[in-house]
Amino acid sequence: MSNYHIKHLEEYFQVYRKSVRNPEAFWEEIAEEHFMWRKKWNSVLEYDFTKPEIKWFDGAQLNITENCIDRHLHIRGDKTAILFEPNSPDEEAQHITYRELHAKVCQFANVLKSQGIKKGDRVVIYLPMIPELAISILACARIGAVHSVVFAGFSAIALSTRINDCDAKMVITSDGSYRGAKTIDLKGIVDDALEDSPGVATVLVAKRINSDIQMKEGRDKWLLPLLDAESTECEPEIMDAEDPLFILYTSGSTGRPKGMLHTTGGYMVYTAYTFKNVFQYKEDDVYWCTADIGWITGHSYIVYGPLANGATTVMFEGVPSYPDFGRFWEVVQKHKVTQFYTAPTAIRALAKENLDFVTKYDLSSLKVLGTVGEPINEEAWHWYNDHVGDKKCPIVDTWWQTETGGILISPIPFATPTKPTYATLPMPGIQPALMDENGKEIFGNQVDGRLCIKFPWPSIARTIWGDHKRYKDTYFSAFQDMYFTGDGALRDEVGYYRITGRVDDVIIVSGHNLGTAPIEDAINEHPAVAESAIVGFPHDIKGNALYGYVILKETGESRDRENLKKEINQVITEHIGPIAKLDKIQFVPGLPKTRSGKIMRRILRKIASNDMGNLGDTSTLLNPEVVENIIQERL
Ligand code: PRX
Repeated sequence: MSNYHIKHLEEYFQVYRKSVRNPEAFWEEIAEEHFMWRKKWNSVLEYDFTKPEIKWFDGAQLNITENCIDRHLHIRGDKTAILFEPNSPDEEAQHITYRELHAKVCQFANVLKSQGIKKGDRVVIYLPMIPELAISILACARIGAVHSVVFAGFSAIALSTRINDCDAKMVITSDGSYRGAKTIDLKGIVDDALEDSPGVATVLVAKRINSDIQMKEGRDKWLLPLLDAESTECEPEIMDAEDPLFILYTSGSTGRPKGMLHTTGGYMVYTAYTFKNVFQYKEDDVYWCTADIGWITGHSYIVYGPLANGATTVMFEGVPSYPDFGRFWEVVQKHKVTQFYTAPTAIRALAKENLDFVTKYDLSSLKVLGTVGEPINEEAWHWYNDHVGDKKCPIVDTWWQTETGGILISPIPFATPTKPTYATLPMPGIQPALMDENGKEIFGNQVDGRLCIKFPWPSIARTIWGDHKRYKDTYFSAFQDMYFTGDGALRDEVGYYRITGRVDDVIIVSGHNLGTAPIEDAINEHPAVAESAIVGFPHDIKGNALYGYVILKETGESRDRENLKKEINQVITEHIGPIAKLDKIQFVPGLPKTRSGKIMRRILRKIASNDMGNLGDTSTLLNPEVVENIIQERL
């Protein structure tokens, strides 16, 4: 029996039992047998969820890029590591071998050093899905700099907030990006952001769209000549297992974005292990995850997990609808993709289009299909299964979070029987618990509750950058001695888990986490707005869309409502990015509030979802009369 690669259901149960009986021995064996350490650990795990403090493989030393690149060179140096598929099908794909990747990462790492970046410094990466993105991440890891990738769809204000929060010295960007038929002026966004981020000394600029951009003397430098001047060898910095690897921002229900900090050793072990099992990865496979590396999915399952296994990982720059809705399937056929991992929102969007876009391509190379980021509805699951997988490819509905670093609940293909809409069973080492509102664990099957995890796993985030108290309050205070996920879940009669959605004020739109508070803060910046409240409502393609209730100031009352709506979405785009735009905006005279002044979002959510049958008792509200008005004027 191999702990590392599970092949059938009985084996899963055996491995799982072993993993929870003695988690330390379980992870130690995996860490020892499958990775390259410069020094062994003193202890496998030390943790205390009350502080909270979590350390895996403490005292061990390694460099994650040695594990993701160097150790593959003598066995698969000429194998493609990164297969870059550009935005336009007319541009040729690039096959970057492990040997080439090694040289490129070393050169980039040398550039970082020559620009004064040292171990522990933070580097913000704001790049489209081009090879430089993966290479710059690995270059940071090579020298022990902490990368923080900001999704290139975020606005200048959002970028600047993140740069300042982690006090980054450098930003890596490009002259622009392609997105379908459009180009985006990324460098212009960086220039705007840096007006409010004086700590950034250097901006490295990759060339992608050959646009005519402004370069600020002394600060902005073209990447290519710097790379060309450097050696293709760079000794890896030897890191402690618990040294920071990266910061990745995620939305919270309140306030500023949370900079989740992931460390080196445990993150590597867990992402590699789950990649191997969840995708049943084999040596000659061509694996494709369509996520953007600006999200955790791309970090763990485009870059680190696949490369740690010596896999070929596809990096796709484009969008599913360009030049037409067959693009995904054209790429699958062209590169003979074996594992395909995407988001339910993409599946729903493609399922609406003519089936010819799928059937005209040969998808017979596919073995495993995956989804991530939000619940997948039954209809989308069947469409994916029938038309993409031809009923032959197990669908892994993988549940996890930015905070968890890797997949926690998912079927293992060819081992766990799948069930539509169910993420099914926990990965080895993961101990889920469902909790009731009084903080008691709900045992048995056919129950639902708040989803917690009872025991640490190697890739759990260790803190929120600069705000350990918020880390404790958000994840370890709701339930004693447990990590609280913020999700609700049910456990069916055989013990399978189904994630039912967020139980806090985070709304998932097209698979992206959006906090209500930052959007409301942005709207309230509009001079005509007095107050606002955002809720989610079901949407055919996005899963959820945003519904905003807005109270105008007296000065705004006379303004044209349609113009105001446009302006409000413009303010949101400026503060966060287009992903947070509202689908519906209703101007209201007041918001339903409790006597203590708290907005009753439950009522607003029901109205937005057209579910007015059961609004509950509104008589105890401070202002029950506004509810009637809101219902009447509902959009
Ligand atoms: O609500 C869950 C939902 O996405 C949240 C995490 O979002 P984020 O940190 O952006 O990471 C997304 C990619 C890992 C979760 O709290 N979620 C994620 N995967 C699933 C899911 N909901 C249902 N089913 C899933 N498979």
